[in-house]
Amino acid sequence: MGEVRAPVSPGTSGTVGQPRAHEAAALHVTGRALYTDDVALRTPGVLHAHPVGSPHAHARLRSLDPRPAYDVPGVVRVLTAADVPGVNDAGTKHDEPLFPAEAMFHGHAVAWVLGESLEAARLGAAAVVAEWDELPSVLTLTEAIEQEAFQGARPRLERGEVEEGFAASAHVFEGSFEMAGQEHFYLETHASLAHVDDDGQVNVSCSTQHPTETQEIVAHVLGLASHQVTVQCLRMGGGFGGKEMQPHGFAAIAALGATLTGRPVRLRLTRQQDMTMTGKRHGFHAAWEVGFDADGRLQALRATLTSDGGWSLDLSEPVLSRALCHVDNAYWIPHVLVDGRIAQTHKTSQTAFRGFGGPQGMLVVEDVLGRCAPLLGLAPEELRRRNFYVEGQATPYGQPVRHAERLDRAWQQVLTTSSYAERRAAIAAGNAQDPHRKRGLAITPVKFGISFNFTAFNQAGALVHVYKDGSVLINHGGTEMGQGLHTKMLQVAATALGLPIERVRLAPTRTDKVPNTSATAASSGADLNGAAVKDACGQILARLVPVRAELGRAASWEDVVRKAYFDRIQLWAAGYYRTEGLSWDAAAMRGNPFKYFAYGVAAAEVEVDGFTGGYEVTRVDIVHDVGDSLSPLIDLGQIEGGFVQGLGWLTLEDLRWDTSSGPTRGRLATQAASTYKLPSLSEMPADLRVALLDRATEDGAVYGSKAVGEPPLMLAFSVREALRDAVAAFGPAGRSVELASPATPEAVWWAIEEARR
Ligand code: MTE
Ligand code: MOS
Repeated sequence: MGEVRAPVSPGTSGTVGQPRAHEAAALHVTGRALYTDDVALRTPGVLHAHPVGSPHAHARLRSLDPRPAYDVPGVVRVLTAADVPGVNDAGTKHDEPLFPAEAMFHGHAVAWVLGESLEAARLGAAAVVAEWDELPSVLTLTEAIEQEAFQGARPRLERGEVEEGFAASAHVFEGSFEMAGQEHFYLETHASLAHVDDDGQVNVSCSTQHPTETQEIVAHVLGLASHQVTVQCLRMGGGFGGKEMQPHGFAAIAALGATLTGRPVRLRLTRQQDMTMTGKRHGFHAAWEVGFDADGRLQALRATLTSDGGWSLDLSEPVLSRALCHVDNAYWIPHVLVDGRIAQTHKTSQTAFRGFGGPQGMLVVEDVLGRCAPLLGLAPEELRRRNFYVEGQATPYGQPVRHAERLDRAWQQVLTTSSYAERRAAIAAGNAQDPHRKRGLAITPVKFGISFNFTAFNQAGALVHVYKDGSVLINHGGTEMGQGLHTKMLQVAATALGLPIERVRLAPTRTDKVPNTSATAASSGADLNGAAVKDACGQILARLVPVRAELGRAASWEDVVRKAYFDRIQLWAAGYYRTEGLSWDAAAMRGNPFKYFAYGVAAAEVEVDGFTGGYEVTRVDIVHDVGDSLSPLIDLGQIEGGFVQGLGWLTLEDLRWDTSSGPTRGRLATQAASTYKLPSLSEMPADLRVALLDRATEDGAVYGSKAVGEPPLMLAFSVREALRDAVAAFGPAGRSVELASPATPEAVWWAIEEARR
């Protein structure tokens, strides 16, 4: 396995709180950064893997004949269910056969072919003869709800008595809403490289956010113990949640192939395979009923949220749970009754995606408020602010909303720095003049819970080595996917040890260095691993205290370290951290699942063309709460990137499956960048201003910082609400506007038609 270290970026400082470029920025932009498949392609004798995919959305495999594949020159091995020495399952819920006897979605791999070249493997896969018995398929949420095709747990979140709440309401509205999912579109598609060493140790290099779980799945597929499998993640070219659970099966195929052939095996999906075969953000359907008092204060919310889980559970249950825990977003709702259920459809198994269900839950209440504001005769910004949590109130699952004042502060700051009131007046005046182009403005809040709902995942480990020359090497359990975790960890180690950052290097994530790691997910990578790194550094420093006392204050770090070695003092340490104070009763949906909440506010302005529905995002102002930033440039990048990814989800990215009854039923029609529209430079707001909330120290988290990875995605709600505002301007005042999600130009055009009617 290539040992690729991430060098630190140039510069002399590097303590926590100082702006640093991403530790691998220079490598990224020069193309020198090594990803899993770069190493695979340089591995002598490597075999290439190609799937045999189902041509049907749902069908039973009547027979599978691999023999013709062996007539194709260069084909080395066909992998089928009969080859699995351990358990034929790639999931953690035991509902994901690695080699299925029944294809559950169009493109579902039922066998894999290994070849001397990718082309040989591809031709071999085409030669495999499969006979199918087609079965009926369910593709849409509507079909699934009609047929009651559900899977997994059906959680309920309840507080108070909704009936009492409705009885006390001056206004009651009801509606429904469907929001689409989203393709991760990480630049690096799924990739694994496996080889077996002379001792039978299985080594897998994998683009995975969860190396330990990949290790466990590989081990159980191969019938091995965990210590016989090592998983390494060099870095990922993006994960966004899509590599939290989805890599395991691909890693297992590569590992199985390596075990059977004795040769290294590479499995890298093409973009089209990745889009066809791997899970996406869950689309959701929501049916709701909401009550407000005469002043527009929320009294009651009753809702049923149905997520589109695809063919297997994967992470659908925790995703749904987080969705339910975020239907309140930033708002106090005294009486709440929300039911959740997961549809089973014949599509890819939908999975984690930045926000992990939180965005979908929050979008429900933002959509409700956006639609109800005109019916209540209130400006949407007034309706939103009026319902904010105040200190002392608790969420529907019972967790006190600590630091709610930050929400007000961020809100006020955005209103001021964006000149919101003045621009609102100017926009109204401008819109009155122009019947064909309308501008819209909106401001929306974000409150997002940080920690894994699954309590056990809230622990982390690190390994810090100080060598005799005083140089430092750190390892931790988190993975790098572009989010800057390694940069932050270097800064934490340098700060904790009081060294210039150049003295610290970081080695790739490996399960044989730090075991039993949690997924790098839930935005908590820096919180958890940072605290573990700091713990290890603290242990080493404590051991050096007597040495330093003996040598005197003038002694250099190198002198202290050298003497410590000769005094036989341990110069390396394993660090550990677990988040204290968490409690979660998953069945009752009650407790304190989060360490804290991250807050943010965004105001967006759009300009919409009434002839085409086309629009531009002209200006966005953001204030976001990252506590005391560990690394302000990294955090700025996360806020901008998260916001734009949210903008893509809500306005452009349009997943379409073939729902016809023809032979291509179930096929993903948007399988490439040519048909799946992602935000690019032209969709960036012309004017984007981001500020970090000040006076925001988060006590209890490492160096007072807060997690940043996911929450900024939801700042993009402001764009959607600004579009709603602009659409409303095409019609008479006081009308409620319904907007599809994604609000593509086409959807906006239809909404304008409706508004004008
Ligand atoms: N940023 C980049 N550049 N690439 C990514 O894949 N993933 C996001 C977020 N930011 C991602 C990213 C997701 S889904 C999560 S959960 C966090 O980063 C994970 O990293 P963290 O816990 O270190 O913040
Ligand atoms: Mo992020 S969806 O928690 O990987």
